Amino acid sequence: MSAVALAPVLEAARAARANAYAPYSQYRVGAALLTRRGGIYAGCNVENATYGATSCAERSAVAAMVAAGDRAPVACVVVTAGPRPGAPCGICRQVLAEFARDMRLLLVAEDDRGRVLARKSARLAALLPQAFRLTPPRR
Ligand code: THU
Repeated sequence: MSAVALAPVLEAARAARANAYAPYSQYRVGAALLTRRGGIYAGCNVENATYGATSCAERSAVAAMVAAGDRAPVACVVVTAGPRPGAPCGICRQVLAEFARDMRLLLVAEDDRGRVLARKSARLAALLPQAFRLTPPRR
């Protein structure tokens, strides 16, 4: 998948990041998923005073995708502040793996003005080998 194909997905992640609610960490994250049928679903981190109830950007994007009736992500773009791109946390890797055994991850670090400082391409299956799977019981 070319960088050009992911350009609108990066734009969606950036726009979501602008709305990140991160008063505690000040670490704003935007994520956007591209699906097989061409859908783009974005999310941002939403922190909480309890800390533990915080939702990461990637999981917010997954919730938006599922709510829209789409379940087949092929790529995920994550935008954070620089200098280095942030990799999805362990919980988010598992949540992404629920909907695709593998997908392309594009991790982008930007400065305050939205200039790209660094980018990294990765595969979900490489970041989370042997993801947990459970076959739901038949009813
Ligand atoms: N965060 C994400 O949104 N995605 C990740 O994969 C890692 C962490 C958020 C959660 C919290 O609001 C802030 O980054 C600092 O941990």
